[in-house]
Amino acid sequence: MPNLAVELQKEPAEQNEPILKAVGLHTWFEIRRMGFFKAGDVRALDGVSFDLYQGETVSIVGESGCGKSTLAKTILGIHKPTKGELYFQGKNVTEFDKHELKEYRSKVGYIQQDPYGALPSFMDTRTILEEPMKINGISSKKEREDRIRQVLEEVKLAPIEDYLPKFPHMLSGGQQQRLVIARAMILEPKLLVADEPVSMLDASVRVEILQLLQSLQRVHNLAIIYITHDLSTVRYFSERIFSMYGAKIIEKSTTEALLDNPLHPYTQALFRATSDPDAENLKTFKEVPAGEPPSLMNPPPGCRFNPRCSKKIKGLCDVEEPPEIQVNGDQIVKCWLYEKKR
Ligand SMILES: Nc1ncnc2c1ncn2[C@@H]1O[C@H](COP(=O)(O)OP(=O)(O)OP(=O)(O)O)[C@@H](O)[C@H]1O
Ligand code: SF4
Ligand SMILES: [Mg+2]
Repeated sequence: MPNLAVELQKEPAEQNEPILKAVGLHTWFEIRRMGFFKAGDVRALDGVSFDLYQGETVSIVGESGCGKSTLAKTILGIHKPTKGELYFQGKNVTEFDKHELKEYRSKVGYIQQDPYGALPSFMDTRTILEEPMKINGISSKKEREDRIRQVLEEVKLAPIEDYLPKFPHMLSGGQQQRLVIARAMILEPKLLVADEPVSMLDASVRVEILQLLQSLQRVHNLAIIYITHDLSTVRYFSERIFSMYGAKIIEKSTTEALLDNPLHPYTQALFRATSDPDAENLKTFKEVPAGEPPSLMNPPPGCRFNPRCSKKIKGLCDVEEPPEIQVNGDQIVKCWLYEKKR
């Protein structure tokens, strides 16, 4: 990501009331044996709390299977949380009726990993962009047409006349993702949830798509949740980073503080590979520590990272779950090492 550092300069977000607030969110999936007997629950999200502010980008990082997409889909209202609350602009999403949920979804845009899979192959660009407006009661054809042109211009699919009749298979991967972003923006959302938005694209177009997202954010003062495995992009793209492990957020920090001094042993291991300036060392560092991720059906007691943690305190870490500990103004960590009396 060579030019990102220069191109993507971040402004601090306005810190007033959060646009999104999660309080003890749990999303569990029931597993049935032979389609009948309950075998247990996959605790894909297991007590997640955070605030997100208007105009702010938060990156969510963590190894495969830790619950990032489940969090995204719970925020989007695709999964109903098993427990906990989610507030959007102060209103409890978990208590919304069908009508309120539809309105909520129009304010939250979703950008998926696989743009081709996200787009209906039988619809052309105009129809793809018109559909959400029809569903949300924008009855004026002229209003819809004007908005389609406006949003295509914003995502830089030009000349517009050329793109309007095109079907997804006629577009390149980058153009498909621009169309997905256009669809996510068409109802003028306040929040975008981008789940690995560039991981399936060619390296050459990744920066362009991230730059597009950032310019949309600036122009519309959007809040963005950016889920990624690409740790080299988070420093230029987000004000804060949430590090997830075993269906929980284990560190919440400003990007600057986290990259300067990651606190949680898992986050330290995760970021070590990208923060070392010595290219030789990169070859010897692993992105994640050795060992298996925890089972989400039978998670280990205490801290979920304890079976893999070299700093584990026996009799504590393997018994009691660490609380969230505010270490300084910028960093919150779930790790017993930071308990004050220690
Ligand atoms: N609908 C579902 N039913 C049962 N289990 C599920 C379901 N969706 C996700 N899971 C499980 O929940 C856990 C978290 O999955 P999730 O997709 O949220 O992880 P992730 O962090 O997004 O991983 P990746 O980085 O690979 O995308 C995994 O164990 C997954 O198998
Ligand atoms: S709580 Fe204990 S096991 Fe968990 S990360 Fe901290 S030191 Fe390691
Ligand atoms: Mg995922």
